[in-house]
Amino acid sequence: MPVITSIDDLKRLYKSRAPRMFYDYCESGSWTEQTFRENSSDFDQIRLRQRVAVSIDNRATASRMIGEDVAMPVALAPVGMTGMQHADGEILAAKAAEKFGVPFTLSTMSICSIEDVAEATSKPFWFQLYTMKDEDYVRRLVERARAARCSALVITLDLQILGQRHKDLKNGLSAPPKLTPAVIADLATRWRWGLGMLQTRRREFRNIVGHVKDISDPASLMAWTNENFDLTLDWGKIAKLKELWGGKVILKGILDAEDARMALKVGADAIVVSNHGGRQLDGALSSIRVLPEILDAVGDEIEVHLDSGIRSGQDVLKAVAMGAKGTYIGRAFIYGLGAMGEAGVTRALEVIHKELDVSMALCGKRDIKQVNRDILRVPEDFGGRWQR
Ligand SMILES: Cc1cc2nc3c(=O)[nH]c(=O)nc-3n(C[C@H](O)[C@H](O)[C@H](O)COP(=O)(O)O)c2cc1C
Repeated sequence: MPVITSIDDLKRLYKSRAPRMFYDYCESGSWTEQTFRENSSDFDQIRLRQRVAVSIDNRATASRMIGEDVAMPVALAPVGMTGMQHADGEILAAKAAEKFGVPFTLSTMSICSIEDVAEATSKPFWFQLYTMKDEDYVRRLVERARAARCSALVITLDLQILGQRHKDLKNGLSAPPKLTPAVIADLATRWRWGLGMLQTRRREFRNIVGHVKDISDPASLMAWTNENFDLTLDWGKIAKLKELWGGKVILKGILDAEDARMALKVGADAIVVSNHGGRQLDGALSSIRVLPEILDAVGDEIEVHLDSGIRSGQDVLKAVAMGAKGTYIGRAFIYGLGAMGEAGVTRALEVIHKELDVSMALCGKRDIKQVNRDILRVPEDFGGRWQR
């Protein structure tokens, strides 16, 4: 077993083990990738304030997200095609999350279905919903999530139309991959991946295939998205979805204070400040940079979570110190999964947890719930001076 000391180690191993097409799918942002890059580089601009000679015995990283106990304020973000990064990827990631004590969010665009994941786990997970034109299908999807005892519906709002990632088009991304000569040459060097895939029957979008009539190309995420996502989604429809679900609702993809106020108005339980990991509107601000503005607008009235750019426990600490009540990791857990399956996801969580715990201690805090802006050095112009 290789010695893994950082998320970067997992990323290197993942790159050598997953097919190129799926690595590129994960490790890209839209168009110029400016927002994708800044999600990480903006975290780097924030520094931590070292404190000494305070007791750091008996530390605690446990807290709560939407009223659920979490071992640390980190959930696994919904990631489409996770089951193509590693055979049965969603099941393995959900199991690792359950054992670690953090929430797992299953994407609508997953390979393993809601029922597959429910069968393999014992704790309720969260289900992420993309809203489609076919209202009957959406209703059935919500019912399936309820039947599987999902404890929250995460409605993603920033992907009704697809941001372009050049590599996905050039690679002909699909699930399962189409066996072109280039793909066959690549797969020949990824025997672990191939072996896993041969041993599972879960190789297509199982929340969709068999549940929708007349799908023209279920293998292509892009074709499916372009044809089926509901371009007319608005706050009225979100309110109706909330009513249909009847349970906890998290609205994901909020990047503007005005939208945060609307989310509050429709009665969401939490919002996720997110730019979809830099995969949608290139040129949008990083999540960590807009977080303060959104907290000023709604922070006292609704739980504010954040994702996009988190690659370490220090990033989690910075987001929490800025005021986020929870964070999500997308790529960081995919690196682990693609590198080593369930053990890799567990390792990613362990790495992040240790970095969070040690950094918190070196900032002189022993409980994540006591962490606040005091431990940060934020550049004076971090929010930026932007003209409207
Ligand atoms: C490969 C990949 C697929 C994704 N698929 C989905 C998805 O199906 N639904 C969704 O709401 N977000 C999706 N996201 C966005 C993540 O939920 C999350 O917002 C993002 O990964 C956070 O940024 P990070 O990867 O820098 O942690 C995806 C992200 C990646 C990297």
